[in-house]
Amino acid sequence: MRRNRELPARLQAVTPRVIVVDADRPEKPAISEAVTILRNGRLVAFPTETVYGLGARALDRTAVARIFEAKGRPAAHPIIAHVLDEDGAKKIAATWSDLASQLARAFWPGPLTIVAPKRAEISDELTGGGNSVGIRAPMHPVARALIAALGEPIAAPSANRFQQISPTLAAHVVKSLGDNVDLILDGGPCARGIESTVVSISETNEIHLLRPGSISIEALAKHAKVIYENQNATEGELRASPGMDAKHYAPRARLLIAAREDLAKLAAEKKVGVILQGNSAGFVAFATRVLPGDASGFATALFAALHDLDDLECDLILVEAPPSTDEWIAVRDRLTRASGH
Ligand code: TXA
Ligand code: MG
Repeated sequence: MRRNRELPARLQAVTPRVIVVDADRPEKPAISEAVTILRNGRLVAFPTETVYGLGARALDRTAVARIFEAKGRPAAHPIIAHVLDEDGAKKIAATWSDLASQLARAFWPGPLTIVAPKRAEISDELTGGGNSVGIRAPMHPVARALIAALGEPIAAPSANRFQQISPTLAAHVVKSLGDNVDLILDGGPCARGIESTVVSISETNEIHLLRPGSISIEALAKHAKVIYENQNATEGELRASPGMDAKHYAPRARLLIAAREDLAKLAAEKKVGVILQGNSAGFVAFATRVLPGDASGFATALFAALHDLDDLECDLILVEAPPSTDEWIAVRDRLTRASGH
């Protein structure tokens, strides 16, 4: 059995089965083994360009129910169905608007999830009891090979316990889910590092942004008017997308967001981890992670940095406040949720 090369020795003993695959050309035997597990109604975690997904056959409601069990996730949270392309989407969507088609042509394969009316045969387990289904055609060769070999859509939320930080490495999946997952395909780090942008389309052909993510508002706005109402969603409010709970993506440690000059004062305390943008000029703390100063580079590295600082058992994680421009909206969203506000 092959083991995850990135995994700390202390985790090797408690791991689920992990197969290291070539991220660009996944080996056929590994994909076949994963397909066998999926056909048996079991769970396979796999890399996508955004984060690792916890996959099950989307058309098998018992298998989908197993995802909720493994994640400890409330049943009302819908799960994204992963397909290869628009043809795959049309097999599970009851209707597919011209704008959906335009967005799919512009952003698929890639990190955009389109919420569409569901076909009758799509189970309540997958949709969280609702009438719509979230659909995405991922770009990652391992995800695509798996969907192609299964010949059916794969249901996959992020491969972490409910409300924990999403995994961007196979080791994060092991840490969060342990042997609640039957197999992990380890294709190395996820290139985007932040989840897909989730949109629905209104009858008046506007794009409703349900979750900011890897595809920017600016890119979407080239196709139609973008409406984003969830900016200040708080626990208990009625929301279009249940994944918008205020507390989400949280590390174990308390997390605070502040301007750099304020961070310096707080960082003097005991086990404080600090995440900075661009440089660490003159900064002293228990643990410091310097992430790229641009929004997409920062997004790619953010979850791994949070996982790292949690592993070091920091009492407090301080994050330099990102700029308030639109391109940082997804990062600001995840950080605000991680801070529990
Ligand atoms: O990048 C991603 O989207 C990753 C990878 C694995 O594809 N998946 C992911 O899934 O982040 P999850 O379950 O952690 O988050 C899915 C988000 C949630 O905010 C959920 O509420 C929303 O998509 N969503 C899914 N189906 C929906 C639907 N039918 N209506 C409204 N929102 C939906
Ligand atoms: Mg998630």
